[in-house]
Amino acid sequence: KSVDLHPTEPWMVASLYNGSVCVWNHETQTLVKTFEVCDLPVRVAKFVARKHWVIAGADDMQIRVFNYNTLERAHMFEAHSDYIRCIAVHPTQPYILTSSDDMLIKLWDWDRKWVCGQVFEGHTHYVMQIVINPKDNNQFASASLDRTIKVWQLGSSSPNFTLEGHEKGVNCIDYYSGGDKPYLISGADDRLVKIWDYQNKTCVQTLEGHTQNVSCVSFHPELPIILTGSEDGTVRVWHSSTYRLENTLNYGMERVWCVCGQRGANSVALGYDEGSIIIKLGREEPAMSMDSNGKIMWAKHSEVQQANLKAMGEAEIQDGERLSLAVKDMGSCEIYPQTIQHNPNGRFVVVCGDGEYIIYTAMALRNKSFGSAQEFVWGHDSSEYATRESTSMVKIFKNFKENKYFKPDFGAEGIHGGFLLGVRSVSGLAFYDWENTELVRRIEIQPKHVFWSESGELVCIATEESFFVLRYLAEKVATAQETKEGVTEDGIEDAFEVLGEIQEVVKTGLWVGDCFIYTSSVNRLNYYVGGEIVTVAHLDRTMYLLGYIPKDDRLYLGDKELNIVTYSLLVSVLEYQTAVMRRDFGMADRVLPTIPKEMRTRVAHFLEKQGFMQQALAVSTDSEHRFELALQLGELKIAYQLAVEAESEQKWKQLAELATTKCQFVLAQECLHHAQDYGGLLLLATASGNTTMVGKLAEGAERDGKTNVAFLTYFLQGKLDKCLELLIKTNRLPEAAFLARTYLPSHVSRVVNLWKESLGKVNQKAADALANPTDYSNLFPGLQEAFLAEEYLKETHVRLRPAAEYPLITVSRYTHILGTLNVTCAQKNICLHPC
Ligand SMILES: *[C@@H]1O[C@H](CO)[C@@H](O)[C@H](O)[C@H]1NC(C)=O
Ligand SMILES: *[C@@H]1O[C@H](CO)[C@@H](O)[C@H](O)[C@H]1NC(C)=O
Ligand SMILES: *[C@@H]1O[C@H](CO)[C@@H](O)[C@H](O)[C@H]1NC(C)=O
Ligand SMILES: *[C@@H]1O[C@H](CO)[C@@H](O)[C@H](O)[C@H]1NC(C)=O
Ligand SMILES: *[C@@H]1O[C@H](CO)[C@@H](O)[C@H](O)[C@H]1NC(C)=O
Ligand SMILES: *[C@@H]1O[C@H](CO)[C@@H](O)[C@H](O)[C@H]1NC(C)=O
Repeated sequence: KSVDLHPTEPWMVASLYNGSVCVWNHETQTLVKTFEVCDLPVRVAKFVARKHWVIAGADDMQIRVFNYNTLERAHMFEAHSDYIRCIAVHPTQPYILTSSDDMLIKLWDWDRKWVCGQVFEGHTHYVMQIVINPKDNNQFASASLDRTIKVWQLGSSSPNFTLEGHEKGVNCIDYYSGGDKPYLISGADDRLVKIWDYQNKTCVQTLEGHTQNVSCVSFHPELPIILTGSEDGTVRVWHSSTYRLENTLNYGMERVWCVCGQRGANSVALGYDEGSIIIKLGREEPAMSMDSNGKIMWAKHSEVQQANLKAMGEAEIQDGERLSLAVKDMGSCEIYPQTIQHNPNGRFVVVCGDGEYIIYTAMALRNKSFGSAQEFVWGHDSSEYATRESTSMVKIFKNFKENKYFKPDFGAEGIHGGFLLGVRSVSGLAFYDWENTELVRRIEIQPKHVFWSESGELVCIATEESFFVLRYLAEKVATAQETKEGVTEDGIEDAFEVLGEIQEVVKTGLWVGDCFIYTSSVNRLNYYVGGEIVTVAHLDRTMYLLGYIPKDDRLYLGDKELNIVTYSLLVSVLEYQTAVMRRDFGMADRVLPTIPKEMRTRVAHFLEKQGFMQQALAVSTDSEHRFELALQLGELKIAYQLAVEAESEQKWKQLAELATTKCQFVLAQECLHHAQDYGGLLLLATASGNTTMVGKLAEGAERDGKTNVAFLTYFLQGKLDKCLELLIKTNRLPEAAFLARTYLPSHVSRVVNLWKESLGKVNQKAADALANPTDYSNLFPGLQEAFLAEEYLKETHVRLRPAAEYPLITVSRYTHILGTLNVTCAQKNICLHPC
């Protein structure tokens, strides 16, 4: 029986004939809350957002107030002596108005305990609907089955005046909310819709068409349309100034009972016998355009307004903040603008809507040319434009004169402006030459948008799922046009080269140099350059790109409420990236000094991704990044410098690795020292056979307490004394004793004494069990011989042969040694390693 939209939540409340009131979320299409009101029809339910209420009026004559958060009933009272038909909520005062079959209208004050503040008497039949005048909240109008409309004033119980003209009962009424006309609209059982001027109290128009009782009427609060619903099951859409029938909607859901539009939104809720529907009307995108000097023009209804960014002054601007701009009225437009678009040089704007276009001078909004067209696009050259007359005919104009018209082979479902003229049809997108309308190339794609770069070298084709970036090869096209080679029925094969496809849905876009800046369907503000996506900002709502002003280093965007916001994006960065994409490093170098230091690293990452490591290294200011780059490039000197500055073990290790692979052992050694990587040093020293290094390492390692490495290095050098002392020093006395027993028998006694002493402190018994060879020589057979062997081997066994000596060993001796070795191995079946 009724529907209402919540002003801020995505909710619709519907009151039903069976006694229920349901709140739906129309974004998720889920039922949010249900109120079982009564067993009788509930003919009306309204939101009061500021109180979190749903107020319902039913055939049991009761008004019920529910809190939609807690679902509790806040209040209930008998309002009338017959069915309640309508509730109107006052926009500012704590009032509701109710109307009923008891022929009365009543005002209720919720701040005064719901007292009935006033009764409005005058109708002689059911009062079907009441609406408060949006331009004067003290006035309201009522529609009654007594065939009249009455206009009332709060505070006066009798009507100001009555409008008569319908021949049967009037079911519905609405005020026009635009400032220009004092109009009311009504619908009646005579199947007619009437528009009234309530100042001179005359009917200015009658809309005929419905074939049954008209049950609801509405001036859309935003769009220039009238919506009417009828028991004939249709909703009709009429133009609100020409009164032309634009559309008839029939969803086959039986009788229509209510339509509800919403300020600031394109959604309209419709209530039927069999359910409710939310439809979206018109374009989401605001009619807005900006020229290259920062003059922004937009249409608010049919009023054209202009704001100049230059007039904004020097105030600090925050990214994403709404700009407060001085707005200048330019006058009203003869058509209702759906789009506004500046031409490339900004001298003209075209306004399109209702199948017509008018070209105005941008300065004074004086009309220059006009015509009828389904679509209008500017050319690359400021004097050119094209219009699409129908699904088959495209016209090209030059200097405001028709130059050519043509019928594209597969029809024209849409046209796209820019460097080449794009025509969309079932067979894809065809690009034509503006001059001679020759087909350049047909591409099998269904574009939503086509964006050409200013140079005409790059084009972005955006579809429902993704976007493609293509390079236009003008030279190949020229050659093919001359030689007629490579020309097929789909045009010139080599006309385009695909540079990339990105899986993102572009909403609006523009090129700055070779950078494609766009807003995406998930509300990101990004740009694409050389296959990379850079995110400039995450937007909190849908925004439309208006343009880029290089001088300000800023991007400007608008939203559907006509707010303007801006985000900073440095032109120097874009120029630099463009130069890099064009491999113009001379240019890049000239631009570089203008890029602020804090942006250099971002630019360097871009260079790196493009494969220009050397340049990236030169540009980057981030030492981590530079170190990575230096490593990748094998720039040891730079990497060394950075490692010194960073004093990070990790860097020294990485650099040591690189130095090793480059056979820079001295450097590697130094790095490993810095990194305190003794294991690495040991490996390097032994593998490179550098005695000095092994020697130094032993000392260093012992000094730094790296005893494992120190022990190994001493051992390798045959410095058994050192090994033993190290073990003693580190209190590894059992190991020391065994080492002595194996290699240095003359020390056994001393070490065992130390061991006994130490062990005695914790376990005297165990200490006593240790035998010292001085006391128990019987337990150490062959000890005397071992002393001799020790003396002897000191001279002969442990003799280092540095790798440096290898070249001195003659080939004959070498083979001789090898020969001996082989024999020995074969005979004893073990390798004694005599050399
Ligand atoms: C009324 O109809 C709605 C929708 O069909 C249903 O969800 C609800 O339960 C019904 N209420 C009653 C009281 O039958
Ligand atoms: C309506 O009536 C009130 C009081 O009777 C009067 O003050 C007001 O001017 C009238 N308004 C119109 C629009 O006639
Ligand atoms: C009433 O005003 C409308 C404009 O709103 C005008 O078209 C109409 O002629 C006027 N009627 C009378 C009787 O003055
Ligand atoms: C239209 O309204 C009349 C009363 O004026 C009513 O008798 C008739 O049933 C209504 N038509 C439909 C289709 O309900
Ligand atoms: C263009 O301007 C002229 C004079 O200013 C005016 O008479 C005419 O109606 C306008 N036409 C359109 C389509 O705006
Ligand atoms: C061995 O290492 C030392 C440093 O410990 C170094 O000075 C010397 O040049 C190295 N010798 C060779 C042959 O690499």
